Formats: sequence, C-alpha cells, structure tokens
Amino acid sequence: MNPPTAPAARAKDFLSILDLSHEDLGRLLELAARLKADRPLGRQAPTADALAGFHVAMLFEKPSLRTRVTFEIAVRELGGWTMDVPGQFGLGIREPLPDVARNLERWVKALVIRTFGHDRAATLAAAAPNLHVINALSDQEHPCQALADMLTFREHVGSWRGRTLAYVGDGNNVATSLVHAAPQLGVHVHVASPAGFELPARVVDDATRVARDGAAIRVFRTAREAVAGADAVYTDVWTSMGQEDQAAERAPAFTPFQVNRELMAAAPSGALFMHCLPAHRGEEVTSEVFDSGASVVFDQAENRLHTQKALLLMLVGAR
Ligand code: CP
Ligand code: NVA
Repeated sequence: MNPPTAPAARAKDFLSILDLSHEDLGRLLELAARLKADRPLGRQAPTADALAGFHVAMLFEKPSLRTRVTFEIAVRELGGWTMDVPGQFGLGIREPLPDVARNLERWVKALVIRTFGHDRAATLAAAAPNLHVINALSDQEHPCQALADMLTFREHVGSWRGRTLAYVGDGNNVATSLVHAAPQLGVHVHVASPAGFELPARVVDDATRVARDGAAIRVFRTAREAVAGADAVYTDVWTSMGQEDQAAERAPAFTPFQVNRELMAAAPSGALFMHCLPAHRGEEVTSEVFDSGASVVFDQAENRLHTQKALLLMLVGAR
C-alpha cells in the first residue's frame, strides 16, 4: 500500500473528529481494518516504509498508557521515528506557542499532543502550515479514541447504519468525540448524564448537523432510558485527569449512572459494554460487567493502534 492507495485526508490536523469529512472518516476506518489484517505481515506489510525518514514528535502533559504506546508502535510499524519533546521546556512559558510550532515544523512531520488546553493544540496547529498536529486527548475532545471505538463497534455489531450506541456518564472529552463520530456513520446515539455534567449543547448541535443516514442524538434523564434499545453501552470515568480533587463531590451525582448488571439487563440481550480505559472498577462500572462476555474494552484498546496507523497514513504518509 504505497501512498496512492492510502488516501490523503483533506485536513492538515486532527484536533477533532469534526476535522474529518464523513468520507475521510469512512475511508480511515476502512484503511484501519486493512492495516489490522496486514499486521501479521510485519516488515513485509505494504505500508512498512510509508513514514520512512519522518519523525513524529510526542508531547504529553498528562499520563497515558494506550495512546502513548499505540502511537509509538504505529509510527515504528510505518517505518518512521518518534521523539519526545522534552517536558522541561515549558510549553508556552519559555517562548510563545506559535514559535514552538514554527520550530517543530522544521524538524518533524507531525506532533502528537496530549494537553489540558484544547486551545493550545489549536494554536500550535494554526501557527505551522507544515506540521500535522494530532490531538491525543485534550480537556475537550479525544478524537483518536472515537476512531477505535467506531471500528470496534462495527466489528462486533456488524454494521453502523441504524444501530444505537448509548453513552452513560460524564459529558466529557470522550463523550464529545464519540458523539461527533457515531452519527456521521449513521449510528444513533443515546446520552444520559447527571445534571450539571451534560454534554455541552454545542456538541449536540454539531453532532446533529453532521449526522447522516437518519441518525439521531437523543438525550435522556436516566441511564435506564438511554440503554433501552442500545447495541452497546459506553461509559467513562466520573472524574477525568485534572479533576481528581472533585472525586468526592461528584460521586453522589454519578452513582445512579453506574454500569452494573441491572443496567445491562435494561439493554437488549447481547448489548456490548465499552469503555475507553483506564476504568475505575466499582465506580462507573462494576467488575462483573467489566469482566463479562459483553465487554469489548480490550478490543477498543487494540484498535487504537490500527486506527492511529490509518490516521498517520492519511495525514502524513499520503502527502
Ligand atoms: N484511552 C486512553 O486514551 O488511554 P490512555 O490515557 O492510557 O492513553
Ligand atoms: N475522560 C478521561 C479519558 C482518559 C482516557 C480523561 O480525560 O481523563
């Protein structure tokens, strides 16, 4: 698979699922499925040298297991190199962010950034026309996660169009990207969050605007209502990275939204359980559900690799 068969994305950067047209989103997920099938070929895979000679910089302001490891492996398996942007340089402190980007673009093809400030990633992307900036999770969005989630959903459910995904819990970065992605693929989304922790109205509006094939976003008051008719039940932690000091005050509001046996029984039999990980067993999900046959969480984790390889090929390798 040389560059001509890996389609170039129209977008330079991937800060949001909304940066991709629905055609590019579909192409990316098809490419990811092919890359997954090709992975056993190792160095004989047609994409093994697609990023040869290219460096991808990694800048993580928060912890990561899955995102970090899968990007490292993805770049290597495509023949490129990763490098850490040294943490001690103080992003935006020692010199303005646009200048950081204008330096980086002279050395590397892409920057994978996990940051507390979505606007920081946007500032870096806007300042450097030759640097592909990839959002590896921000306070607002986690678009790389949603790519893997949608591939996993189709692998297990068999299709997207007309299916239903229920998201129960915090209207956070993971929920935002999921709600951006699923309706573009024709998947209905049901969302239930505690009062005060709902998805921003702008996210629901954007998702409604990009929805296709009749997909609808419906917001419910209770978790039980949201999971009725759902092919999968998705949740995330009650307190995201950086919100740890709110854990005790959030818990009472979130407890009725725990994904447990009773809630899964309110979903159709055979409904999947999904989670971006890391999970806090006993909080947003019980161990029983997490370890049950319904759980596809490690498939989601695996698919981070294949979908990010596809993303790198479409943003960087195909140009
Ligand atoms: N799901 C996810 O992004 O995991 P990490 O925080 O470990 O990267
Ligand atoms: N919402 C979580 C996701 C972690 C992958 C967080 O931001 O911490």
